Amino acid sequence: MTDLTLNEAARPRAPRIPGATDAQRRQGGRLALIHAMYLQDMARTRTLVGEIEAAATPDEARDSAEALAARLEEMPMLRNLRLFGSLCGQHCAHVMAHHDIEEAHMFPHLDRTTGEGFAPVMAKLRAEHEVIHARLEALALATQQMMQAPGAAAYAPLKEAFDALHADMESHFGYEETELREALGVYGGV
Ligand SMILES: [Fe+2]
Ligand SMILES: [Fe+2]
Repeated sequence: MTDLTLNEAARPRAPRIPGATDAQRRQGGRLALIHAMYLQDMARTRTLVGEIEAAATPDEARDSAEALAARLEEMPMLRNLRLFGSLCGQHCAHVMAHHDIEEAHMFPHLDRTTGEGFAPVMAKLRAEHEVIHARLEALALATQQMMQAPGAAAYAPLKEAFDALHADMESHFGYEETELREALGVYGGV
């Protein structure tokens, strides 16, 4: 079972690479630009989560369950769920693909090229991907429950799942781009 926490306190640091230049560090910083794009998407998705809250909360006491359900039907996020099978739609699929590419290409490349001291960092990054994937699944589940029983009660776990995903994604990206920047600049891979 996946341990649903990033355990940030246990993050190993990457060793410095002797002779790495500023130009190489800038080159390795490209990963941070890619991450920033995903975080922008997450910020946009957060706006949609807020719209769901407005739709899921009855305006007046006479608001029926049917009226709530009808409003939720119109929500872009829930359309995403139907179209792409995930709350944040293509965006979440892109994050999964980003991790898949890292694990298929970038990480094995760094395993081969970096020194021994990098192994604990690589292992931690892989473990963190598992946590993010579990968070994506939890968000999808909370969304399904929201669709089955729309309303304020179902919104709370959905918001919680989104916030946990957002926080962990931001934290993972920050750790990864910081620890791998020199290695990516010196050995390539991004
Ligand atoms: Fe990653
Ligand atoms: Fe990444």
